[in-house]
Amino acid sequence: MNSKLKVFVSRKIPSLGPDLLRKEGFEVKIWPEERPMQQDELIQEAKQADILLSLGENKIDPYFLNECRHLKMISQFAVGYDNIHIPEATRLGIPVGNTPDVLSEATADIAFGLMIAVSRKFFFNHKMILAGGWGSFKPTSHLGQELAGKTLGIFGLGSIGMVMAQRCQGAFGMKVIYYNRTSNELAEKQFNARKVSFDELLAQSDVLSVHSVLSDETRGLFDRQVFSKMKPTSIFINTARGGIHHEEDLYEALQNKVIWGAGLDVTNPEPMDKDNPLLQMENVAILPHIGSATVEARDGMSKLAAENIISYIKSGVIPHCVNPAAIE
Ligand code: GLV
Repeated sequence: MNSKLKVFVSRKIPSLGPDLLRKEGFEVKIWPEERPMQQDELIQEAKQADILLSLGENKIDPYFLNECRHLKMISQFAVGYDNIHIPEATRLGIPVGNTPDVLSEATADIAFGLMIAVSRKFFFNHKMILAGGWGSFKPTSHLGQELAGKTLGIFGLGSIGMVMAQRCQGAFGMKVIYYNRTSNELAEKQFNARKVSFDELLAQSDVLSVHSVLSDETRGLFDRQVFSKMKPTSIFINTARGGIHHEEDLYEALQNKVIWGAGLDVTNPEPMDKDNPLLQMENVAILPHIGSATVEARDGMSKLAAENIISYIKSGVIPHCVNPAAIE
């Protein structure tokens, strides 16, 4: 292989991937600062590289892609790639790799944890203690909901949703229904999961967990009208992308008791403003987009992002490619 190929990495990531790339003869340059790069900075660096190892925070729009059309490939350190304009990358012949599966356990754990945190008001009670409000035992207050035997509805049943289904069924014997474009036979066999229409998913889920991609079809999908079709006792969980729910409508649905609670690891925008009223609500738990934040998942992502590059340069094949048409 050409030993002079340069990879630019747009943030410090676990060293596994960069080490692997160096071992394979690539020259690796890593953005040293602890902040996301501005687009002009990214363009400047990418212009001097052959391959970009990007993060979800990088704006890789048609402007960027045309400025950097020389790139041999983009290897994204994430499973999601909604920050990248895939049709334009494909048109310019720039293949894009991503890092699925290695973060499924970690992300599903956050969805599962948020579900419990919301159902028993963990965050609200924690804040109450910090505020000096731990009073006497009150038989009729702080009441949450139990999850045993409830129905889990999964919106977008891919590999993260599969782990969530496994967790929920194993721990609470939850029934699993799902809404997906295609049937998931493994889920039907393993979890007795049932594919339902979107309206049925809304009407029957006690916990509705979003695990889909952010696309034109899903952007802003969970809005006032959609929340109004859910059970008043239901819990909405989103660990996928904040853009999939409408945040003001979610607040209103919670405030008006249209739905019961919400757990979010993703917001719109990110970071969420510290004064956002959702943060003060009793049946709400919010985390700062830490779905993949485990040693195991981040090491896996780093390694996979590097392997996508190495494999493409050595054999023309990207093990996890989101736009194979760009190679043809
Ligand atoms: C995280 O949000 C990812 O897409 O990997």
